[in-house]
Amino acid sequence: MKALVYQGPGQKDWIEKDKPGIEKPTDVIVKVTKTTICGTDLHILKGDVPAVTPGRTLGHEGVGIVEAVGDAVANFKPGDPVLISCVTSCGKCANCKRQLYAHCDDGGWILGHLIDGTQAEYVRIPHGDNSLYPIPEGADEEALVMLSDIMPTGLEIGVQYGRVKPGDTVAIVGAGPVGMSVLLTAQFYSPGKLIMIDMDPARLELAKQFGATDTLQVGSVDVVEEIMKMTGGLGVDVAIEAVGVPATFDTCQKIVSAGGSIANVGVHGKPVELHIEELWIKNINISMGLVSTNTTPMLLKTLGSGKVDPAKLVTHRLKLDEIMDAYEIFGNAAREKAMKIILTA
Ligand SMILES: NC(=O)c1ccc[n+]([C@@H]2O[C@H](COP(=O)([O-])OP(=O)(O)OC[C@H]3O[C@@H](n4cnc5c(N)ncnc54)[C@H](O)[C@@H]3O)[C@@H](O)[C@H]2O)c1
Ligand SMILES: [Zn+2]
Ligand SMILES: [Zn+2]
Repeated sequence: MKALVYQGPGQKDWIEKDKPGIEKPTDVIVKVTKTTICGTDLHILKGDVPAVTPGRTLGHEGVGIVEAVGDAVANFKPGDPVLISCVTSCGKCANCKRQLYAHCDDGGWILGHLIDGTQAEYVRIPHGDNSLYPIPEGADEEALVMLSDIMPTGLEIGVQYGRVKPGDTVAIVGAGPVGMSVLLTAQFYSPGKLIMIDMDPARLELAKQFGATDTLQVGSVDVVEEIMKMTGGLGVDVAIEAVGVPATFDTCQKIVSAGGSIANVGVHGKPVELHIEELWIKNINISMGLVSTNTTPMLLKTLGSGKVDPAKLVTHRLKLDEIMDAYEIFGNAAREKAMKIILTA
């Protein structure tokens, strides 16, 4: 079969590789029908995630058809259409029992990281019973691909950790796929204002179409000053960081109101300066974490009811064997006006 393989920093290839087989009785082999590229894959390619070693197939998002199941798999059989979660979980260990699947004893984020991922014709999913979801009849598969990672990430680590409530003023720093997923899922809670912040005017324009009440372009306005004007000097109830650099975390520290929350979603490679000397007196909450995808069943229901349409994040559609071109487009997202690329086998 063909797979997109990491060959060391800056290098990747679409090459012939052995088709995965059942290794443990809890494994499921999935024939990938649709997958996509995540910002995290670009981090890996830069060499930012040294746990990924050369030869690793990338990708942790997608949908497919069950090809084979191990003897212990009870929920799936060959031919079943499935949604692949970016987080693998046994469903039985102490952390799984409290739905903290990100920290499963025998799972967590391993796909396209510690084991071969979904940017291939076939993928082996450990603990298939708990790590796959049946695809409801008539569901939009492109929308479902957004449920592998970015939608649960936005909802769990942005909106839920940030404690977004009805009427809140929410600022989202970063209008990439993850920031946009925060924007879409925050609307479940009817916030009063949704302020999107980015330097890319095209992404801010898209954010308006997706429900942002206000947008602020970094570089053309003083973001902190504008937020203070908009909020009568109070700041925002919830500041959500969806980029992963010190500057954007710092913006969140400056714009959070007394009693508010900072929810960090971005993956950081460098330390940030925590201004505890200013924040201690403000009764704020700071949160961060890795997505557990425990909200996936809930997101599947909201999708079914038409309450949210993550398929609108898809800007490009290519064939799976055009994945090298897709990386080129996704790696130049601002120039190409790209958000999410669907790769169909
Ligand atoms: N916590 C988790 O479980 C989890 C899961 C998935 C992704 N992530 C992380 O979430 C972050 C966002 O992911 P993405 O795929 O949307 O990334 P992305 O790179 O596509 O988007 C980031 C956006 O931030 C904007 N940006 C860059 N610098 C900025 C600045 N100084 N001020 C304002 N905006 C700025 C960019 O223009 C871009 O639109 C990444 O760090 C990613 O690794 C975290
Ligand atoms: Zn991802
Ligand atoms: Zn577990």
